[in-house]
Amino acid sequence: MDQGKTPRPGFFRCLQNVVGCAIVLGLFAVCSLQIAGAQSSPVHIRFDADSRVFRIDAANTTYVLGINENQQVQTLYWGRQLAEGDHFSAAKAMPEAASFDLSVNTTPQEFVGWGGGLYVEPDLKITFPNGNRDLVLKYLSHKIEGDQLSITMKDISLDVYVTLQYKADGETGILRRSAEIENRTDAPFTIEQVFAGTWNLPRGTDYRLRYLTGRWAGENTVQEQPVHPGKTVLESRRGTTGAQNNPWFAIDRIGNNDAEDGNVWFGALGWSGSWKITVEQDQLQQVRVSGGPNSFDFDYRLQKGEHFQTPYFYGGYSSDGIGGASRLLHRFEIDSLVPHAPHPALRPVLYNSWEATGFDVNEAGQLALAEKAASIGVERFVMDDGWFGQRKDDRAGLGDWYVNPQKFPHGLKPLIDKVHSLGMDFGLWVEPEMVNPDSDLYRKHPDWVLNFPDRPRTEGRHQLVLNLARPDVRAYVFQFLDKLLNENDIAFFKWDYNRNWSEPGWPAVASEDEKKVYVDFTRNYYSILEELREKHPKVEIESCSGGGSRVDLGVLRYVDEFWTSDNTDAFDRLLIQNGFTYAYSPGVMMAWVTDSPTWVNNRTLSLPYRFLSSMQGSLGIGANLNKWTTEDFATAKQMIAQYKAIRETVQRGSLYRLITPEHDSEQSVTESVARDGHQAVVFAFLHSSMEGYPYPRLYLRGLDAHARYRITAMDGKPANGTPAEASGAYWMEHGLDVQLRGDFQAAAFTLERQ
Ligand code: DGJ
Repeated sequence: MDQGKTPRPGFFRCLQNVVGCAIVLGLFAVCSLQIAGAQSSPVHIRFDADSRVFRIDAANTTYVLGINENQQVQTLYWGRQLAEGDHFSAAKAMPEAASFDLSVNTTPQEFVGWGGGLYVEPDLKITFPNGNRDLVLKYLSHKIEGDQLSITMKDISLDVYVTLQYKADGETGILRRSAEIENRTDAPFTIEQVFAGTWNLPRGTDYRLRYLTGRWAGENTVQEQPVHPGKTVLESRRGTTGAQNNPWFAIDRIGNNDAEDGNVWFGALGWSGSWKITVEQDQLQQVRVSGGPNSFDFDYRLQKGEHFQTPYFYGGYSSDGIGGASRLLHRFEIDSLVPHAPHPALRPVLYNSWEATGFDVNEAGQLALAEKAASIGVERFVMDDGWFGQRKDDRAGLGDWYVNPQKFPHGLKPLIDKVHSLGMDFGLWVEPEMVNPDSDLYRKHPDWVLNFPDRPRTEGRHQLVLNLARPDVRAYVFQFLDKLLNENDIAFFKWDYNRNWSEPGWPAVASEDEKKVYVDFTRNYYSILEELREKHPKVEIESCSGGGSRVDLGVLRYVDEFWTSDNTDAFDRLLIQNGFTYAYSPGVMMAWVTDSPTWVNNRTLSLPYRFLSSMQGSLGIGANLNKWTTEDFATAKQMIAQYKAIRETVQRGSLYRLITPEHDSEQSVTESVARDGHQAVVFAFLHSSMEGYPYPRLYLRGLDAHARYRITAMDGKPANGTPAEASGAYWMEHGLDVQLRGDFQAAAFTLERQ
């Protein structure tokens, strides 16, 4: 699996390659890296051969690990950057706490095999052909190369090699970790659990864990709980990421109510298959977080000579509270992860026909919508489900990716040409990994779906999951997507995925290899995306899974945006979008303005309210424009123009969640500050006024105290007496009062630096 991206040019490369502990002991080496480029900070990776301590400094973070006397790789420090001269003495393995808690459990290791009496979560568990299941990994060698450190470990007797890989990001201090397992024995062995590694936090009993839970149309609920003795498992067993848990965590201290201050350790797993993150406070109060592909119903037979590369587990530290942690992730995603990083294009304002037409798409109907969309300033027109095969509803057609001749008798070209002539580019919905039993593809290849022979094939939304791990399925999917792009001027795919797995069998391979499907499916998913992008470098892709069920840092390396939720109720969206931004940038968060009352809650919301809710992310329109009044069009045109003037600030700037809509809050307020500080944008929402109380005063963040800012209302009004212009100090310390009264009210302001 190609997990990596080509390193950015301009590196001053520093290479140290030391093989064998004996040689290491005789050396002292320091290696540092300066990343070229005005915005990048240096990464320093150093190794002290006397103490056998590695120190990684990047941005505001220091990470220290050492090789102890048992040759284990032990975590020594993870937190705020330390002083240059701070010295770490050699790592010392912790003693056994009792005969029940051997040293292997009490010592915080970076990556630990299951063996030697281990009871805490292992990073690697293997069964060997002779029945042996004991694996004890010891340091062997290391290599420092630029901003990357790799440490190779080996089992005490067997030729099982594990290379721990660390890559530090100079701008954010975020570390990317993974492990490569290599079978140099003379027989296959079976991996039963394989993680990217373990993050060990400073010992403590006062930690709070935040994570995201959800469901279809209710994604990204922020959960908070103390880190208790025992284990919390966040996971998906569904074949893909899922919305029930998102592979992200953040840990800070219980009782810290300042979202912008205090230590936070956070991480996110870059994997779109079934996954698992365990947060464990062990019997000696050590807190460990481990993660990788889910080990449930999984194993992976690694043949002699083969390697297994784990997904990446990203981790970071912020001293600026949970808000700072989110901003580091946002910055990392936009500058280092997404395709075209560090300069991805701003998200265009798009129109999508799904809520307007459902499956009932045809040339005339789409053309009419396209004309209306263009008239309000939309930049991308996307045709959703229903254009292909015999797709009249969700019962048929998936898998047959030819243009439906009744709906589009002249193919897609007339529609695409018209969309172009209206000044927009064209996007198309696809759901490549799925098939309806009522399709030509399934009639021809019933063996292509996940299945156990002679067992039911459970349908979800009348569809089955194609086994993308199969080379022929992978080839078919790539070929039809490639053909669509070759034959049509398509700028954008909305790649959908509308159910989870059932009966995850792969009868075509040996039974010992069937459970590889969890990994090989996801690897092929990535490889298709990667190959498509290589061949069609201009195409953009949205990851959608019935809303936000495939949102993670694994797929974000290959897609430009996420569909956040099928729930487009602008009030519900405040909560869903709020949770999303804990882990993911507003620059990849698609938010449509749709019709009112909403299909979700039958709630009536004004058009400006709906716009302001969506303008906090990457704006789209999903309403039925055929029903809009002249006044609606005028409002939309004005708000889209306003959005274009602030979108760089929203999509690239620093986000401050001034008031979160969590815990049934009556208000929700976000502020985004442009990277160069020239502009700040404030969005304020009121659920309902109570007992005549005024709206809370808003204390802005992230402004230059000494600069002056002029306030302009995009919608709504500041309170009477608000100065037209004031210092950053005024807006941050005195604050901003806004006039918001009533139910479901919203206002938005820009502050331009003078
Ligand atoms: C689920 C998506 O989330 C919707 O936006 C829409 O594309 C439908 N699928 C189409 O079937």
